[in-house]
Amino acid sequence: MVTLEQTARPGELLTIEELDKREIEELLFEGEQFARGKQWQVTRDVFVANLFFEPSTRTRFSFEIAEKTLGLNVLNFSEQGSSVQKGESLLDTVKTFEALGANLLVIRHPRNDYFQSIRTALTIPIINAGDGSGHHPTQSLLDLLTIKQEFPSFKGLNVVICGDLRHSRVARSNANALTRFGANVMISGPKEWLYGYDYEHVNIDDVLEDVDVVMLLRIQHERHEDDMPWTKEEYHRRYGLTIKRVQRLKKDAIILHPGPVNRGVEIADELVESEHSRIFKQMKNGVAVRKAVIKRAIEKGGLL
Ligand code: CP
Repeated sequence: MVTLEQTARPGELLTIEELDKREIEELLFEGEQFARGKQWQVTRDVFVANLFFEPSTRTRFSFEIAEKTLGLNVLNFSEQGSSVQKGESLLDTVKTFEALGANLLVIRHPRNDYFQSIRTALTIPIINAGDGSGHHPTQSLLDLLTIKQEFPSFKGLNVVICGDLRHSRVARSNANALTRFGANVMISGPKEWLYGYDYEHVNIDDVLEDVDVVMLLRIQHERHEDDMPWTKEEYHRRYGLTIKRVQRLKKDAIILHPGPVNRGVEIADELVESEHSRIFKQMKNGVAVRKAVIKRAIEKGGLL
């Protein structure tokens, strides 16, 4: 099997796993600088194509704001109205953008590891904006930055990731990165959705007083083959962060959710903007972190 390390293209970012701890720390440092107002601009024409083959609000528009703030020329692509509707493949679509002069591709696609089938055919870097239930490296970086802003170290933090882990690219990327930095990662939710993860399975009610970070996940109905066996109310009562449960959290514990949020399902409506919640802070940090990732792609890709 060809590993990413063997063929890594300067500046590309496909998975959080391909970054070593030093590289993650550099991106978090740069992200924090941008969050504090750092100014940086490209000095030549750089064209970035945002290719979203799956719906997105936060990732798509935070990339666009980051790109425009950094002075890039932005090409926004959506399947609707493109030649994909006439049967053009992913490979031919990305090769077309390369031929037209794009210097960088930001891609979201519903297929796990979609990038493996196209990256070796390209000379320009890809930034993965989410692949199926596989990876979401920039979400992971913005989550790490949000946690870093609250706690002196990742080491020893108790993090519980709750919900639809089976279909979550966010959970996979975050569990990997947090564990490498010494956090104690636990997973919670319906047991059918926890298999395949080598982390401690817990009942949310058994850990609430001890956790520093509660990371909630959306139920990804679009990736489910069968209907959920619970009503929304039943799911909320069994597995969700209810108002009663949140009262047992430590004073400085934080709630994260990558969004979009199903209010009243994985989290009580009133908690989305509560004292413990950092959900909108995560979105704000998304712009800063994506600026850091784009700057890295430009510098390492020789596009300065
Ligand atoms: N967190 C996240 O990826 O949200 P979007 O699907 O809206 O981009």
